[in-house]
Amino acid sequence: MTVTIVGSQLGDEGKGRVVDLYGDAADVVVRYQGGDNAGHTVVEDGTEYKLSLVPSGVIRGKVGVLGNGCVVNPETLFSEIDALRERGLEPDVRLARRAHVILPYHRVLDGIEEDVKKDDDLAAGTTGRGIGPTYEDKAGRRGIRVGDLLDPDVLRDRLEYVVPQKRALAEDVFGIETGEEFDVDALYEQYKAFGERMKDEDMTVNAGDFLGKYNDGGKNIMFEGAQGTSIDIDHGIYPYVTSSNPTAGGAATGTGLGPGVVGQGEVVGIVKAYLSRVGTGPLPTELHDETAEYIREEGGEFGTVTGRPRRIGWLDMPMLRHAARANGFTGIAVNHLDVLAGIDELKVGHSYELDGEELFTMPSTTERWGRCEPNLKSFEGWPEVDWSEVVEQGYDAIPDNARAYLDYISDELDAPVYAVGVGPGREETIVLTNPME
Ligand code: GDP
Ligand code: IMO
Ligand code: MG
Repeated sequence: MTVTIVGSQLGDEGKGRVVDLYGDAADVVVRYQGGDNAGHTVVEDGTEYKLSLVPSGVIRGKVGVLGNGCVVNPETLFSEIDALRERGLEPDVRLARRAHVILPYHRVLDGIEEDVKKDDDLAAGTTGRGIGPTYEDKAGRRGIRVGDLLDPDVLRDRLEYVVPQKRALAEDVFGIETGEEFDVDALYEQYKAFGERMKDEDMTVNAGDFLGKYNDGGKNIMFEGAQGTSIDIDHGIYPYVTSSNPTAGGAATGTGLGPGVVGQGEVVGIVKAYLSRVGTGPLPTELHDETAEYIREEGGEFGTVTGRPRRIGWLDMPMLRHAARANGFTGIAVNHLDVLAGIDELKVGHSYELDGEELFTMPSTTERWGRCEPNLKSFEGWPEVDWSEVVEQGYDAIPDNARAYLDYISDELDAPVYAVGVGPGREETIVLTNPME
């Protein structure tokens, strides 16, 4: 069976910790989109792991696959694998030969384009990892794939075609001086060596075939989404989005297993109990007061990848209803309940007011979304409690007001609560249902 873990908001909902939570019963954990723009945190026995490419399941010793829908920076991947080895783990990571490779020029172009867009307020506040430019080349059929790194002649041909175009773009359109990042010979040597290491370590696979065998053998497959529904390139707040499909459909196209395989499994929406945002663009329920400060400090809301302070807002129900439909959530996991403890009165954006109309889901243009005024619903807060005791006693031991908050979310989304996070650690979770069992 399959379980797909999907961010229901703007990323950083705590997907990594839920993958880790349920990962024990998984035989393989697969990333299906995105690249090292992701930062997934797993806390095992007080030890923290921050993973940007290696699937979170490897912390439990599971096979990790980067599917064809991912974009892979080999440099980041190898340094992450090496760092995990130094910490005593033996990550078994397989790479789809169809996945696209991030090259140094993609990162340079990501930075330049963001700078240029700033003047028009169009910059997405990207992670600067070259994600957008790599997906652009994929769609433009000029990308370099993992499989190409394994064949030096193909690699050279591809580089000779694409690099002069990138150099011309950087120099003639954007007016910057280019260096080794745009040099065919230097890139060829560097990326050929990455290909050799991939071969030596027998890392590359035909992901669809590889995963198909797991599926045919009745094994448990976990799909680890990165980013979140509202920064999905199709369903998110375009243009302030990432360049892939974090939504559940991406688990099929990004791995080579059919949509039926994904759809017959469980799709678990990961919900942060409030909103956090690292990038730019509108945010109707954004907070600018001392409550935002409190949540930012209590929740440690500073970007995993970039260290930037995250923007904070109240929970946005139209955003969650949109996510529940786009992904078909069979259940939800709500994280960071502990962070809200100690706030007297909580608010939730129940619906939006736009041009005299009440909306219950997100409008499809970001300009209209930016003009939405949230209709706020109030909830009484709950005090700080001994969460380890609550975990021991189970769901009913959650403070009444917090349970009312969770029940409201679950009812509105018509999806049961599978788990509640009350701290970053693996044990700091109240588990109601394990979809993998
Ligand atoms: P991801 O990108 O969705 O995997 O999430 P991140 O790892 O980027 O961000 C989530 C942050 O919140 C990490 O620092 C986690 O360790 C932490 N975290 C996750 N769940 C909880 C929770 O229930 N309570 C608290 N206090 N922290 C949590
Ligand atoms: P995880 O998997 C939060 C945001 C960036 C920017 C936009 C585009 O940890 O939840 P990109 O570098 O992808 O081209 O940036 O998307 N973004 C994320 N925000 N969590 C993430 O990943 C993100 N990955 C990208 O801040 O607004
Ligand atoms: Mg993250």
